[in-house]
Amino acid sequence: MAKFKQLYVCTACGATSPKWVGQCPDCHAWNTLTEEIVTATKANPRLGGYAAAAGSTVTHLAEVALTEQIRTKTHLPELDRVLGGGLVSGSVTLIGGDPGIGKSTLLLQAICKLSLGNKVLYITGEESLQQVSLRAHRLELPTEHVASLAETQVERIIEIAKQQAPKIMVVDSIQTIYTELLQSAPGSVSQVRESAALLVAFAKQTGTAIFLVGHVTKEGNLAGPRVLEHMVDCVLYFEGQNDSRYRIIRAIKNRFGAVNELGIFAMTDKGLKEISNPSAIFLSRYEQPVSGSIVMATWEGSRPMLVEIQALVNESHVGNPRRVTVGLEQNRLAMLLAVLQRHGGVATYDQDVFVNVVGGMRIMEPAADLAVALAVLSSLRNKPIPEDLIVFGEIGLAGEIRPVQSGQERLKEAAKHGFKKAIIPKANAPKGIIASLEVITVQSLNDALQNF
Ligand code: TYD
Ligand code: MG
Repeated sequence: MAKFKQLYVCTACGATSPKWVGQCPDCHAWNTLTEEIVTATKANPRLGGYAAAAGSTVTHLAEVALTEQIRTKTHLPELDRVLGGGLVSGSVTLIGGDPGIGKSTLLLQAICKLSLGNKVLYITGEESLQQVSLRAHRLELPTEHVASLAETQVERIIEIAKQQAPKIMVVDSIQTIYTELLQSAPGSVSQVRESAALLVAFAKQTGTAIFLVGHVTKEGNLAGPRVLEHMVDCVLYFEGQNDSRYRIIRAIKNRFGAVNELGIFAMTDKGLKEISNPSAIFLSRYEQPVSGSIVMATWEGSRPMLVEIQALVNESHVGNPRRVTVGLEQNRLAMLLAVLQRHGGVATYDQDVFVNVVGGMRIMEPAADLAVALAVLSSLRNKPIPEDLIVFGEIGLAGEIRPVQSGQERLKEAAKHGFKKAIIPKANAPKGIIASLEVITVQSLNDALQNF
């Protein structure tokens, strides 16, 4: 008789606990433990890892044959760019994103185009084959060579994949896939982890490149399994603003390339189209520069983002002038105004100051200090800031400009978006030249004001 074992699994990190607790003992997230029933009916063939599947003899690294990894182009240059120049055989790529963002559409477009030169297999666990086929026809994609399968049991998927021997395989989505080794419901952490592990092992053994689709939770994590991120070679996020037709795809992890590349698409009635010149899409551009508005490069979680900060400085008619912030910390503004007065000679004691982060963003990092200070000054003096200027940097109480994390990535993002000039902390000075970006480094608030 199968032995039932009850376990509580953290949906954020996959840690297990024999008892329910409010806080995950591993990642300290609150209320993430969910109950799962584990029955070990068979020995788990996966134990032993993925890379080990190929054979286990000790070899000196220098003797390992260096075959140039051949990359298959997906015929979607923006996707190739985030993958680091194309798809590596035997690699597993996880594509995450909100429901309806276009993950299935993107992979369908990619797989149909790939099918013209490669053997492919499209596995759908969410949509029926009719739905997939209908969409492919509507998007006028070549479907003659796309082998497809509606299946959710991972053992059968692997069995069929072994017969078909595709070079590229898509599994949409990993949350619907289950293994018969476990009795918990599809989508639960242990199911997702075990199924993914079997698929990863299959990819490594056969050299099949696999795309996995993964859903994202309310908190913005790849649903449940952060554990998946450790297993796969590439993690891509597909994201977009609610009201915008633009979609960004970016790498969070890439074993075969850099992670600071991003690919940009627009969702049209004929599927996803690539945007080759994306610099102007997320920032409002004015007919001519306006005063009080500046663009900063902020760091969101693990990624850079360009946002516009606006300030309005207006003569105050109340005894206690107003300091209002939207999307920023109010005390920080009061502090910055004090530093501006003390170390920059810019007095605002008789002015109301309003600062707003455009687009409903919230910026909690001090890297916004320099942008806020310059926006305030620009509004106060009614002097517009050039549109192609990007800034970031923390301001200390002594008027010094302090470095912020990931300066290099922020600059690259700005350069990618077409900015020409940057004012940044001296300690964040880039090591090399960043294409088409003139970088001015500043050490103190006074330096910054002089350069402005
Ligand atoms: P889909 O790829 O099904 O999203 P996901 O797999 O990430 O859940 O994308 C569906 C959305 O994209 C849907 O809201 C409609 C929109 N869409 C278009 O606007 N144009 C199109 O040509 C297609 C195929 C989808
Ligand atoms: Mg889908």
